Amino acid sequence: MDRYVVFGNPIGHSKSPAIHRLFAEQAAQQLEYSTQLAPLDGFSGCAREFFHQGGLGGNVTVPFKEEAYRLCDELTPRAERAGAVNMLSRLADGSVRGDNTDGEGLVRDLMANAGVELAGKRVLLLGAGGAVRGVLEPLLEQEPAALVIANRTVEKAELLAEVFAELGPVSASAFGVLAEPFDVIINATAASLAGDLPPLAASVIAPGRTTCYDMMYGKAPTPFLRWASEHGAAQALDGLGMLVEQAAVAFQYWRGVAVNTAPVLALLRAQLREG
Ligand code: ATR
Repeated sequence: MDRYVVFGNPIGHSKSPAIHRLFAEQAAQQLEYSTQLAPLDGFSGCAREFFHQGGLGGNVTVPFKEEAYRLCDELTPRAERAGAVNMLSRLADGSVRGDNTDGEGLVRDLMANAGVELAGKRVLLLGAGGAVRGVLEPLLEQEPAALVIANRTVEKAELLAEVFAELGPVSASAFGVLAEPFDVIINATAASLAGDLPPLAASVIAPGRTTCYDMMYGKAPTPFLRWASEHGAAQALDGLGMLVEQAAVAFQYWRGVAVNTAPVLALLRAQLREG
């Protein structure tokens, strides 16, 4: 049986096995996809062993995406620039290729699922950690009019803006000074985890026009999405679609088959509501 895996720590609640099994069923593909809890200091050994034993591909989640980047023999340009890898594939000669499909997942979810245009738009990205680094290149590829990275620690946003400047109109900012409205606001801070909200002026939302997106998701809307709805955002979207879309990009690469993500996302959404 062709074997795939998702590495993480913790990993027990990962939805990736369910997503890939649904894709496999839909595409009539025979494969096995399981979770693997890697020790915090033992990811590389686990990954090497998995591929040595004949595993074909893997996804990588918190906290191993940077270590996965260092482990790969070959990197896609977008993974190289992101400095992080969420997808590993064994090539014919046994070497390991790393890619980062998070940004493509986000862009697909925004554009194909939510009908959001990015070309010529003003986009605000909140945060400057690994999650932001992973999505900057695919977002800039859509040619927004401006992409502002705002972060609590402004220096980190400035550094990212510098690194990605050659790819498009990207700049850095503190939260407090932003006042003009944006078309799309994406929360990639870890603030939601703490039930917290980046301190933004409500004027960054143009009522009825701005789409707000939180890369996190949960049974209930995140504090950021509640804040967005309260201030009249046209759409308040969570990151469940991004998760399903990044998985679809990986599945298509591994199996050479495109999948329809809509029924998979609908099922996961229903399970999330019930759970
Ligand atoms: P990830 O890989 O999820 O991006 P990370 O690299 O640890 O995780 O980055 C976390 C991001 O969330 C950072 O931008 C962090 O801001 P700082 O760079 O100033 O630390 C941001 N963050 C975490 N908690 C936050 C909070 N309560 N309010 C605002 N931003 C927060």
